[in-house]
Amino acid sequence: MSLLKRKEKETAEANGSGEAEAVAKPSKGERMGQAKDLAVHHGTHKSIDVAGWVDSRVNATGIFTAMMSRHVPKGTNWFYTLGSATMFIFAMQAITGVFLSMYYTPSATQAYASITHMTNEVFMGEFVRGLHKWGASLMIILIFLHMARTFFFGAYKYPRELNWVIGVVLLILTTVMGLTGYLLPFDQRSFWATIVANNITASGPIVGPYLADFLRAGPDFSATTLSRFYALHMMVIPGLIGALIGAHLFFVVKLGTTAPPWVRAGRPKGSRPEEEVTAGVAREDFDEVPVNGAVAAAASAAEPPVKEAEVDQEDAQAAEAEEVEAKESEETEAAVEPEEPAEEATAEEGSVEEPAADETAPEEPPADPADASDDSDPSGEGEVSS
Ligand code: HEM
Repeated sequence: MSLLKRKEKETAEANGSGEAEAVAKPSKGERMGQAKDLAVHHGTHKSIDVAGWVDSRVNATGIFTAMMSRHVPKGTNWFYTLGSATMFIFAMQAITGVFLSMYYTPSATQAYASITHMTNEVFMGEFVRGLHKWGASLMIILIFLHMARTFFFGAYKYPRELNWVIGVVLLILTTVMGLTGYLLPFDQRSFWATIVANNITASGPIVGPYLADFLRAGPDFSATTLSRFYALHMMVIPGLIGALIGAHLFFVVKLGTTAPPWVRAGRPKGSRPEEEVTAGVAREDFDEVPVNGAVAAAASAAEPPVKEAEVDQEDAQAAEAEEVEAKESEETEAAVEPEEPAEEATAEEGSVEEPAADETAPEEPPADPADASDDSDPSGEGEVSS
């Protein structure tokens, strides 16, 4: 008798019904459920949500949301897909490159033979090699088009200069991938073409000869040159490109996407030059106006004086300008010290700023250090806050 049946019989006997055999036989599904309940009860079975477990540790959902649910400015178009297209080709190059490396031999005597073998005899070898070869040219074309897009749309300006610089390094590394890959078949064409490229490199100013020596891996072209190109092409440069693409995308997500130039004329509602750059929020055209305290200072100087209570609390830049001013006046003006007697403060203030002393010399020092007039402030900000 099974464990389950015996348990049912015991239960029925304990209940005094004496009809143990009459108890309906549970179905297979019920028995499975009971077994699972029992296992859970004994702690031998747990339903684990693997995705949730990983997510709670690496915040993959948050990263994915920041990447994919970003606000993009109005007017974005197909030109904005060129960066992603370049990235797609890079991924394709990496995948096809892995398959090619399974059949390639980086030896001066066997490289060409291994390439011929993979092209003519390996299943889909010619197709994969073709993808890799054409992909290299396509990547160069796409990277230039992407660069042109970011240039003509002004995406290289503040605050995206660093991303532009990263892009330039990516461009250089991509061309080096082309150069190093071209030698790998080690046929007549690739051999002589690489010698030409190496000589051109050597003619470069200052670092040119050193760079050419490094690439050649010695005074002459040899088997070592092939090994060096292979290592650079297989490991060093793809690793660098992968890391830099990561940094590039990080900045794209952090800084948002640039609006097309024709959308730029009107600043979108709520977009202020002084706003903090927020992750995943698109930022537009604030590179066309000054972005430091000068903006707030100029704006408040143009406005009539307002009471402190009326100062717009949301204006972060103005608040920052006030803070800076307060610090400066603390450092430079002794009259601001609240412990000082009123007379001393008045006298000293008068010596600092004559017009104020002529009109109404304050009897008490101002409560807020920021209220003290600052002769170094050309914008008259001190008046505004007093
Ligand atoms: C391996 C090469 C590259 C990859 C995979 C790549 C990828 C991307 C992607 C996916 C984006 C966001 C979508 C877009 O705006 O197209 C982007 C944006 C950007 N890229 Fe690249 N990129 C590469 C090379 C370059 C180069 C060579 C430059 C310039 C020299 C550059 C400069 C920029 C800039 C400035 C942005 C920001 C665009 C904006 O805010 O509107 N990138 N890149």
